[in-house]
Amino acid sequence: MIAATTPLSIKTPKPVSSETSPSTPLSYHLIKERYQAAGQGHLLTYYDDLSEADQSALLHQLHHLNVERVNRIHQKATTCPSPMLTNQSALLAPLPEECFDSILEASPDKVNEWQTIGLKQIAQNKVGVILLAGGQGTRLGSTAPKGCYDIQLPSTKCLFQIQAERIFKLQALAREQEGVTEEVIIPWYVMTSGPTRLATVKFFEEHNYFGLSQDNVVFFEQGTLPCLTFDGRIMMESKSQIAVAPDGNGGVYAALRGTGVLANMAERKIEYLHAYCVDNCLVRVADPVFIGYCVSKNADCGAKVVRKKSPDEPVGVVCLRNATFNVVEYSEIDDEVANRINPRNGQLAFGAGNIANHFYTVDFLNKVESFEGDLEYHIARKKIKSLDISTGEVVTPKQVNGMKLEMFVFDVFPFTQRMAVFEVDRREEFSPLKNAPGTGQDCPETSRRDILQQHVRFIQNAGGKVVVGEDDKQLEGAPTLEISPLVTYSGEGLSHLVSGKSIKTPLLINSLEDLEKALF
Ligand code: UTP
Repeated sequence: MIAATTPLSIKTPKPVSSETSPSTPLSYHLIKERYQAAGQGHLLTYYDDLSEADQSALLHQLHHLNVERVNRIHQKATTCPSPMLTNQSALLAPLPEECFDSILEASPDKVNEWQTIGLKQIAQNKVGVILLAGGQGTRLGSTAPKGCYDIQLPSTKCLFQIQAERIFKLQALAREQEGVTEEVIIPWYVMTSGPTRLATVKFFEEHNYFGLSQDNVVFFEQGTLPCLTFDGRIMMESKSQIAVAPDGNGGVYAALRGTGVLANMAERKIEYLHAYCVDNCLVRVADPVFIGYCVSKNADCGAKVVRKKSPDEPVGVVCLRNATFNVVEYSEIDDEVANRINPRNGQLAFGAGNIANHFYTVDFLNKVESFEGDLEYHIARKKIKSLDISTGEVVTPKQVNGMKLEMFVFDVFPFTQRMAVFEVDRREEFSPLKNAPGTGQDCPETSRRDILQQHVRFIQNAGGKVVVGEDDKQLEGAPTLEISPLVTYSGEGLSHLVSGKSIKTPLLINSLEDLEKALF
């Protein structure tokens, strides 16, 4: 493990917003002059009231913040209206057929072929995983990082553990397929942020890295940007501190470079990366089918998508905008475009729902620096607890009062040379945990339900029968059947045992022995 206190080959994280400015170090007058010139002089309003230590902390923060860059970002984000609002038909085009495949339409042989290619890359230690876990999970309302969340599975496993065990199992599957005796390693690069870092690292330590080797779990931290009022003034958290927030999951690219993770990948001779969001309980981490698909297409960047349920489902879609790959938000698409049908297959022409689940070559990740200046920032309007400069009081607002500036992980799509888009079965691969318990949508209950229902299908697809026991409470209508990822990654390896047999729920299967014992 490469953590904050043991940097090894990872350098101390340097937030992207912390570019050193060319002023004399910590000179109050110079800093004041510079901030006044930038229209941000209010940040020193309470300077004289502060203790010496707080004065020094504030000057230090201001010295390290590139305020001119913050102003530029604000200006760009607020003055470039989306070109989507007009002339959509000319601007938008569906995905080119040669860049798109669907697992729902592919033959089993084709899927096997992709999987074989993917497992081969994994067995050669060429595949790594990037976990985006820097979000604050405000909608879920948990104080701990989302990955620590227990979605109330019978095993009580949290999301991090489920994902770690999938990696563990996949390493074994790759070894098995290729018949290699040496260790197969899928390094897990875990991106955290200021608000999630310490708690995440501690959680992994306390849980012994969920059985993975700690050398192969690499934590790195994304950058932050100041929170702004609607007129672009930097907000303060207290009289001595600027209010900052993580710079969005698109901060991953600068963070990979700035914290030395790209160098770590080079040392390990990693060639391909799978990146995903922490909150998808069904995520197929380092999915060999997806990796194999993208490698066989010679793609530099890949995106998994799910079929949009209906034209008005509020999800961004992957398509072409101005002839480059893009994710277009639901709110940006007009009705005619949203309803358009692809005559070839009768599906929505703009129906590739984005789930922030990507493939990259390391070469592509290294190239991001060359176009980073052209990436867009997005405005997230939020309720931000902050100092009221006029009264000196910290206020918890009831209404949205400011904005956070974020980059999105898919913002690099327009810069890809060879994009591959892979449609997967939503039931099998996508169930995000976004909302608080009891909300009924994308919440802990739906996460739990979707995993349990999938495990029922694992048994059924392997030729077995699931009998619902009388004492099974079947919460949210799902029989209580949980199978550890250490037993099966995506349903493989069960049919020789379960074909023609039955099991009875509620049941938790932690090993093949458990499964054998439960069969009748
Ligand atoms: P969301 O956009 O759903 O944000 O993140 P969130 O923080 O999880 O939840 P809310 O919006 O505050 O309720 C999608 C994915 O991107 C990651 C999250 O951890 C999640 O995996 N993310 C988000 C980051 O890694 N960094 C960020 O700055 C924001």
